[in-house]
Amino acid sequence: MTEQSKNAAENKAWSGRFSEPVSDLVKRYTASVFFDQRMALQDIRGSLAHATMLGKQNIISAADLSAIQQGLAQVRGEIERGEFQWNLDDEDVHLNIEKRLTALVGDAGKRLHTGRSRNDQVATDIRLWLRDTIDLIDGLLSNYQASLLNLAEQHAATPLPGFTHLQVAQPVTFGHHLLAYVEMAKRDRERLKDARKRVNRLPLGAAALAGTSYPIDREFVAQELGFDGVCENSLDAVSDRDFAIEFTAAASLIMLHISRFSEELILWMSPRVGFIDIADRFCTGSSIMPQKKNPDVPELARGKTGRVYGHLMGLLTLMKGQPLAYNKDNQEDKEPLFDTADTVIDTLRIFADMVPGITVKAANMRAALNQGFATATDLADYLVKKGLPFRDAHEAVARAVRAAEQKGCDVSELSLAELQAFSPLTTDDVFAVLTVEGSLASRNHIGGTAPEQVRAAIARRRSEL
Ligand code: ARG
Repeated sequence: MTEQSKNAAENKAWSGRFSEPVSDLVKRYTASVFFDQRMALQDIRGSLAHATMLGKQNIISAADLSAIQQGLAQVRGEIERGEFQWNLDDEDVHLNIEKRLTALVGDAGKRLHTGRSRNDQVATDIRLWLRDTIDLIDGLLSNYQASLLNLAEQHAATPLPGFTHLQVAQPVTFGHHLLAYVEMAKRDRERLKDARKRVNRLPLGAAALAGTSYPIDREFVAQELGFDGVCENSLDAVSDRDFAIEFTAAASLIMLHISRFSEELILWMSPRVGFIDIADRFCTGSSIMPQKKNPDVPELARGKTGRVYGHLMGLLTLMKGQPLAYNKDNQEDKEPLFDTADTVIDTLRIFADMVPGITVKAANMRAALNQGFATATDLADYLVKKGLPFRDAHEAVARAVRAAEQKGCDVSELSLAELQAFSPLTTDDVFAVLTVEGSLASRNHIGGTAPEQVRAAIARRRSEL
């Protein structure tokens, strides 16, 4: 072994056992510092709690604890000011910080790792980071809901063709339609809140995999860090990333809901449909076709949904073959997790801004309704209320629709005599139920589209924000 390679090997935190250094390629391949430095502040928080516990338990001296506290405060300052020199040779965020701490405070820095391993350290850092991220996303979902509720309120009575099979089905209000997405976001928030319970458990104390022989106080560390309790099996604590998978699954559903909304925005904005316009600042033009204004933001959100699903698949696959306990495979959990969070955060921020920038073209919505026989069900219900069995009413109205179609008009435009030909039960009060407003107002129960119900639903959801 050359003197040079000996020095290189000795530089590593774990180099004592090695007779030759790793190649630059292996170094780069195995390092995580360029992405896990995102957890630097969580790493310092975790180290401070661990050191405080070591001091309280007399595992390190009061002087060492105070040196560690001062040193970590200095390191945090350097990181926050962007002065910290991240070094690939020190592999990951944990070793980079420990090395700098030791350079600053000497032996006390080397004592910080007593009773701890990077295995329980990294699991703790991710959980701290994810807990903050979940809280951030919850707030963004709430802002997004607030934007939807404002627009829904303006359009609590604006008629929109409700579709099934992408064909005009029955009138709904645009407000009611938007409230469907508010409900989805509500469940998305519930899912995050539930996942957070399992994120918020302390792995520290599991050490490498088996626990530690020092007289540690895990409950104290859990309290210091705001965890609800400790992970109760050391092997499980350092090895499972199910909490990250749960978060990514919840994030996938957030994106799924955003993607469905995006699909509708794109469709509604198509000049063929013309139900809405989206403010210019969320659209882009074409470099060749001067007439174009493309809904790029919703299209990208739809596209980015696939990328988040990919991360979910990646994390599930990452975990499935791993024997207990920690394996280096787990280092691959971070990039998908970070990218999932970044994608969801950016998407929700932009959607909360974009929703108020939607212009509703109510006249086009109504014109589409008038072409789609949207009140045919109301006519059938009318005949049922006059005593006709529903199946017979359905058949009578189907024939009326066919006649209107042949005539090129809506059912509401047929004369009383024409309507009576399909059922003699029809009288001139029929025209009230054939109007869009009549149809909307009649669906007056919780969850229905009547404007009165839409306004009540908006008030209920607002009170929860
Ligand atoms: N950078 C590692 C990770 O992200 C930290 C834990 C490393 N532990 C180990 N024994 N190699 O998982």
